[in-house]
Amino acid sequence: MALASLEKKITDLRHLLHQYGYQYYVLDNPTVPDAEYDRLMQELIDLEAQHPELITPDSPSQRIGGQPLEGFVKVEHNIPMLSLANAFNEQDLREFDRRVRDGLALETVDYVCELKIDGLAVSLRYQDGLFQQGATRGDGSIGEDISQNLRTIRSIPLKIDETNTIEVRGEAFMPKKSFIRMNKEREEQGLELFANPRNAAAGSLRQLNPKIAAERHLDIFLYAVGEWQAGTIATHSERLTYLNKLGFKINQEWKKCQGINQVIEYVEAWIDKRNDLSYDIDGIVIKVDRLDYHDILKTTAKSPRWAIAYKFPAEEAVTKLIDVILSVGRTGVVTPTALLEPVQVAGTTVQRASLHNEDYIQEKDIQLNDAVVIKKAGDIIPEVVRVIREQRDETVRPFKMPDHCPSCGAELERLEGEVALRCMNPNCPAQLKEGLIHFASRNAMNIDGLGEKIVEQLYTYKLVHQVTDLYQLEREKLLELERMGAKSVDNLLRAIEASKSNSLERLLFGLGIRFVGVTAAKLLAIAFGEIEKIQQASYEELIAIDEIGEKMADSIVRYFSNEKVALMLEKLKQLGVNTSYLGVKPTSEKINAVFQDKTIVLTGKLKQLTRDEAKGKIEDMGGKVTGSVSKKTDLLIAGEEAGSKLSKAEQLGIDIWNEQQFVEKIE
Ligand code: IVH
Repeated sequence: MALASLEKKITDLRHLLHQYGYQYYVLDNPTVPDAEYDRLMQELIDLEAQHPELITPDSPSQRIGGQPLEGFVKVEHNIPMLSLANAFNEQDLREFDRRVRDGLALETVDYVCELKIDGLAVSLRYQDGLFQQGATRGDGSIGEDISQNLRTIRSIPLKIDETNTIEVRGEAFMPKKSFIRMNKEREEQGLELFANPRNAAAGSLRQLNPKIAAERHLDIFLYAVGEWQAGTIATHSERLTYLNKLGFKINQEWKKCQGINQVIEYVEAWIDKRNDLSYDIDGIVIKVDRLDYHDILKTTAKSPRWAIAYKFPAEEAVTKLIDVILSVGRTGVVTPTALLEPVQVAGTTVQRASLHNEDYIQEKDIQLNDAVVIKKAGDIIPEVVRVIREQRDETVRPFKMPDHCPSCGAELERLEGEVALRCMNPNCPAQLKEGLIHFASRNAMNIDGLGEKIVEQLYTYKLVHQVTDLYQLEREKLLELERMGAKSVDNLLRAIEASKSNSLERLLFGLGIRFVGVTAAKLLAIAFGEIEKIQQASYEELIAIDEIGEKMADSIVRYFSNEKVALMLEKLKQLGVNTSYLGVKPTSEKINAVFQDKTIVLTGKLKQLTRDEAKGKIEDMGGKVTGSVSKKTDLLIAGEEAGSKLSKAEQLGIDIWNEQQFVEKIE
């Protein structure tokens, strides 16, 4: 393609992706199917890989391109990021209103009410229309540069139609759905859970590797400005409207209120409605609308006098812990759940609450028949917060986690460094059932209609024991099951049949290999193309792939070394299940992202190519070759008779390849 038309193609793709992304992530109103968006993105990535000189920082492909950082750089806020004074009841609000009216010598004042998003305050700086830097609030004067992580938030525009320098401020947060999904995965993996979506958002934005933040599905609402060299605006409500027009995501529930009575009505309405939202709020923020009034009212050292935060009362309830029930997850993790006397918390009746694991029960000294305080973690998942010891009587008995699996009776193990107890029996019925549910789930083989209840039935009636059985189900047998009419049976069989043509990454994820999530499954599928190649891949080949770490590589090798797994995969193939990657094949340059932006040192004698040739190849693929080994080195390629550089790299724990590994990679 001629350069001019190629440039045009790239610009057009970026424009389309920008537009579709805005509709999807900011307006919550997608106009094209996800697959179309993915296809266009892949096309752009491929073109940019062929012509890296055409990559621009505002390209939609550049959201997750960053390399892990060694630490965060401090950022000074030229205009401090203040916090707000709090109000806890109607009287506090009326007093705030009186102070404002006195300060302005007015009878009544217009306010803007906004939801108080429970996340992490951040600032976004734009220069010449481009996203330039994003920072945390820190202590208000000095925060940290978390630009790389913020770029991964799809609703943050990388480019805006305003060339003056502006700094926009808002709240980054984790939607409830992402929080639940993430903690569920962490629980399965025996990892520590995040207490609520706010901690999860903060933890994600403090990751040095932007790829982790990218997987956490964060979002943002903007509600204030810092430095503002653009035109003057008279009111806060006009400012919100202007920010919205520039493409920023503004929370649409804001309302202009005339006088404090309307403010109180707004606050009261949200006390009832707060639990219906898909994200957490912890109160309402009330701001004087006219910006010239802000200048008159001024700020104290800590907070502006023209705004206040109304804080919702905490939603907790006391009830009795009747029993502890145990469930066994897909990976054998045994999770205790408290069975409670039903109680109302945050708008719903709660009868069960998570106890997480043995350590949690011990730390909080939770016993059977205890009076316990229940809270919804992030107002979603009920959790036992503490015990009311003063209410203990003689009926209270300690609870001990079992030594044996409640499903199959096998002895439970506690793996080193994990908080969870695990059943290690691969034939444990609870694990098999959970494994089948996972296999059929939406991000895996996506078999519509094959949920928990049906799997339970299929398992109980011995129609399905492992995944291969799903592809051998007989219509007649299914018709004999309870509540299975001809129509549901046919739909189920059709969905199972359709799943045979899924691309490899769905199958890989569905197998439930420890640590292999949706993203890793896709990477593996793209890199290897066929399941056989993954089965044969060595630990070294696996960790050579960007983003596949040691733990995951080890788990993959271990999984595929199991003979039963090999037999199962062979059987799946015989039954017609596709085991190849069917998505868009990225160009070779993309696969060699291994070298992109990496600092590489060559040492020793190379036999198959000269030093200069090797250097040229690495540079062609976006890497940098340097002369000496340091902490910044990503990879050492060691030929024969390598000496001090090799030992230094070993000391520093840097990846080391021999010449053959390097040649295979570039080929
Ligand atoms: S305005 C100078 N608006 O609440 C005023 N803050 O307790 C700056 N927050 O640090 C803040 N939602 O992190 C404002 N709609 C909203 C907000 C909001 C959440 C947070 C923010 C701030 C804290 C103050």
